[in-house]
Amino acid sequence: MQNTMLTILAIESSCDDTSASVLYGDKILSNIIATQDIHNQYGGVVPEVASRAHMQNIIPVVDAALKEARVKLSDLDAIAVTNGPGLMGSLLVGVSFAKALALSRDIPLINVHHMEAHVLAHFIEEPRPSFPFLNLTVSGGHTQIVLVKEYLDMEVIGSTLDDAAGEAFDKSGKLLGLGYPAGPLIDKYAKEGKAHFTFPEPQMKDLDFSFSGLKTSIANFITNHLKEDPDFIKNNLADICASIQDRIVSILINKLKKAVKLTGIKEIGISGGVSANSGLRSAITTIGTDLGWNTYIPKFEYCTDNAAMIAIAAKYKYEARIFADQTLVPFTRS
Ligand code: KG4
Ligand code: ZN
Repeated sequence: MQNTMLTILAIESSCDDTSASVLYGDKILSNIIATQDIHNQYGGVVPEVASRAHMQNIIPVVDAALKEARVKLSDLDAIAVTNGPGLMGSLLVGVSFAKALALSRDIPLINVHHMEAHVLAHFIEEPRPSFPFLNLTVSGGHTQIVLVKEYLDMEVIGSTLDDAAGEAFDKSGKLLGLGYPAGPLIDKYAKEGKAHFTFPEPQMKDLDFSFSGLKTSIANFITNHLKEDPDFIKNNLADICASIQDRIVSILINKLKKAVKLTGIKEIGISGGVSANSGLRSAITTIGTDLGWNTYIPKFEYCTDNAAMIAIAAKYKYEARIFADQTLVPFTRS
């Protein structure tokens, strides 16, 4: 490939997905994701297992991303990598690999904040939000309402005080005996059910969230019903899933409504793994139409962890000449 436009290789390894992506100009040419199914059997991500799997996956995944993009190492202008937040052992694999590659090619290294990249996933493809916009970033580790003033200027104006929305899905699923991650499974079963069981909505101040009370009420609900009917879960799985999903979605949407009221901003995005949820996607679209919001949801593959979002974030950092100092300890903790 003739290297006339900015070409970036981006790497994401913050949790249990090893991903690499190539950006050329403002286009994503490849986005390879190796999902570590090995954690399913443990009911959650086992940090050391994740690090080892990243070690196995990193070279084949980077290789596949370069091949699919038809880009050679010598075409690259910069290497980008997630430097946090995430599991330390997982981050170490991506950061060490990216750092070594950037040093060997004598090109800049760009550190990318994982949660900022989830927000900037909106800029991978049209339609793109205009500034300022509000973003509900919902993942396995975070739940945030972010005021996005510019590509690299954002402020968290609300966040969870305990569990994240993705954890609420995963922990509820665990109580139902579903595998990990349970979010996509609850989504699937919810489509066949009716949300007639009611779970309480936490009364949180301001724009903060709390999901731990919901988990407790679901645990009590299940324990009580199992006492009367040992097959309660089996016989009601779709309805229970629909009810859990409905409550999580309403908690998220109600906070967004509050944020819109407080800021007057009606340009609204959702992103992060939980934005793959069909109930949340349709709720935000419907409510957006009703309330006159412009709503934005990234394509499915850019909602859950992926390196394309790291690449697009790195493009804005490259343009602003924000490069990593290779000699500093490189991790972002929150
Ligand atoms: O952003 P992400 O891929 O990784 C983190 O940064 O944490 O988010 C993973 C989370 C998991 O909790 C997973 O259960 C949830 O996203 N998730 C879903 C769906 N797809 C993924 N939750 C509900 N419905 C889905 N369809
Ligand atoms: Zn994520």
